[in-house]
Amino acid sequence: MNNFLNINEITLTELESILEDAHRLKKSLEPGFKGLRRDNRLEGCNLGLYFQKPSTRTRLSFETGTMQLGGKVINIRPDEIHLNEGESIEDTAKILSLFLDAIVIRLFKEEHLYEFANSANIPVINGLTNDSHPCQVLTDIFTFQELRGNISEKTVVWFGVANNVLNSFLHASTHFNFKIIFCGPEKFKPQKKVLDLRPRGKERFFEIESDPIKAVKQADLIVTDKWVSMHDKPLNEKDLEELMRFQINKTLVDKGKKEVLFMHCLPASKGLEVTDEMFKDKRSVVFEEAENRMHLQKAILCWCLKKIS
Ligand code: CP
Repeated sequence: MNNFLNINEITLTELESILEDAHRLKKSLEPGFKGLRRDNRLEGCNLGLYFQKPSTRTRLSFETGTMQLGGKVINIRPDEIHLNEGESIEDTAKILSLFLDAIVIRLFKEEHLYEFANSANIPVINGLTNDSHPCQVLTDIFTFQELRGNISEKTVVWFGVANNVLNSFLHASTHFNFKIIFCGPEKFKPQKKVLDLRPRGKERFFEIESDPIKAVKQADLIVTDKWVSMHDKPLNEKDLEELMRFQINKTLVDKGKKEVLFMHCLPASKGLEVTDEMFKDKRSVVFEEAENRMHLQKAILCWCLKKIS
């Protein structure tokens, strides 16, 4: 049994086996109803989904993906169970392990994810915390490689505010050998504790560039996210004004490489971190990225349950 908690804890060989399986799973889908089953690898599997924050893509892609592989999904609403309110995380993790075969959890606190995983006897998948979003980033790598080939030696430029998705990109960069450039206001750069996690000798995989034009010229992949994450306070006017310099718009992206791609994990606040025009531009692959969540979730779940093909 494997947990899927953070990308930096999983070997490159294992991550590549997940990506390869996701390709196979995607190719094996034929046109027709989305519930049509071509592969029964998860027959008999009961997957639990526990989300403390809203989710459209993560929840639906795990639900549909699991059912496509013959498994069943049980949604566990935070207001219906006792986790951390009347029962310890440790006890709830042990109890849920009695009834489920695997669980996806979306929590506020990263330490609660580890507390849960350390007590559970079933695979635990990180469906996002305030500090990480590994399922999203592995999907983004998959999507880039599907469209542009190997991400090794490429440059990912993150615009705006450092957040959980960027943290997972940083985790992935040293494994997959790509550079990340952060382009945003000083006060919103990645935290030292995240940068310190990188293995020694791998510092070259991260740079800061405060000039959006210099940054965009280097990008093979441009990424941004909402400036305010689900757990954050609203921005003040001064910060908002400063962040507008780092908005992804067509004028900026036109200064970049011809083959550059734009990704956003969604949901987006159009008119803020990205313009509507750029969102719909042919270089934007946000919907391919969203669809690929499902193929990746299936492969991640199969890897966790040692059902990878
Ligand atoms: N990108 C992402 O995780 O989307 P949801 O919050 O809708 O799951």
